[in-house]
Amino acid sequence: MKESLSASFEKIFARKPEVLAQAPGRIEFIGNHTDYNGGYVMGVALDKVVTVALAKRSDRKLCFARAKYGDKVFVDLDNPAKQPKELNWVNYPLGVFKFLVEAGLKADCGFDMLDCSNLPSGAGLSSSAAIELSSAFAMSKLYGFEADLKTLVKIGRKCENEFLGMPCGILDQGVSGYGKKDSIVYIDCLTEEFSNYPLPSNCRFWLFNSTKKHALVDGLYAARHNECMQAAKILSGDGEQKLLRAFNSADLEAVKDKMSDAVYRRAKHVIEENARVLEAKKLLLSGDIAGVGKLLNASHESSRRLFENSCEELDFLVDTVSPMKGVYGARLSGGGFGGAVMALTDESFSQADAEKVAKIYEGKFGKKPAVFTCSSGDGAKLV
Ligand code: GLA
Repeated sequence: MKESLSASFEKIFARKPEVLAQAPGRIEFIGNHTDYNGGYVMGVALDKVVTVALAKRSDRKLCFARAKYGDKVFVDLDNPAKQPKELNWVNYPLGVFKFLVEAGLKADCGFDMLDCSNLPSGAGLSSSAAIELSSAFAMSKLYGFEADLKTLVKIGRKCENEFLGMPCGILDQGVSGYGKKDSIVYIDCLTEEFSNYPLPSNCRFWLFNSTKKHALVDGLYAARHNECMQAAKILSGDGEQKLLRAFNSADLEAVKDKMSDAVYRRAKHVIEENARVLEAKKLLLSGDIAGVGKLLNASHESSRRLFENSCEELDFLVDTVSPMKGVYGARLSGGGFGGAVMALTDESFSQADAEKVAKIYEGKFGKKPAVFTCSSGDGAKLV
């Protein structure tokens, strides 16, 4: 990919790129909507990446190009304002650039930038975090800005929260930054500590992309975020305002009457999901993968009944794949309201088994889900 991106860059900009960087997409392993509640989450960086190429310009323009479409967008370096909806793809690297400058990057001139990706799009594998992290690495290197990994990860999230208006947590950027081949990234989202744990070598990940996307997915994500904040406010009472992470099931039951049923169920999901992540970490370390699989199923059940961020298609995929031979567990992975189901399997689960699931799904919904297996990969780096 590096060679072909360099060649495309040269074709479009008539010179070689000075810097290349790549960052992976991710699977949310377990820990659903726990991150922005200051909780715990585990994710796996994939071997599918976004790669970006950059070179300095002689003027003060930022030029963003896409290999796939052959288009170019120019933005004034001194006015990195958010681009309109139809140019939203520019906003990811642009927001990162803006916050790198705010963090101290000195840009004496503009740049030309080209990106390409082998991450399946629209499957909820977080190509946005991959573009943010690869851009952050490449831009820092281009301008000689020294920043540690945590700073770059946080700038990626800031870009989502403050530039794009998406109130996400640190999961996607954290995993894209801290991922390591053959390991899981575990994040304490309150202290923002990132650790890697070995993935059992005999496990495989299968993804079943429903290709369904709820029309209001961004609004629904924000609505869940709001409900969680409401619950945390009620639980905090008049004292110090804390995130849901600070509370347990008994705390929640004690204030159940003070909140709507929906708010109560959202909080119950997050509180129990945090406990599941901690348990999954323990079981992973002790090699009890069957136990981890049960927690994945329980997480999905909670999304379905309590957090209500699943949908008929995702439920059907989980119900079809989880009882199959070789499957430890399955759940929706990511924000929800459509997207993909992840199944954790042993090595006996085959492409033919996955195709069987796809066929059953097609029988019910009239279209085939995209099915693929993926391996873990390394986090963001210069290439
Ligand atoms: C999306 C967000 C993450 C996280 C998940 C749900 O992927 O970007 O920050 O909240 O949804 O767990």
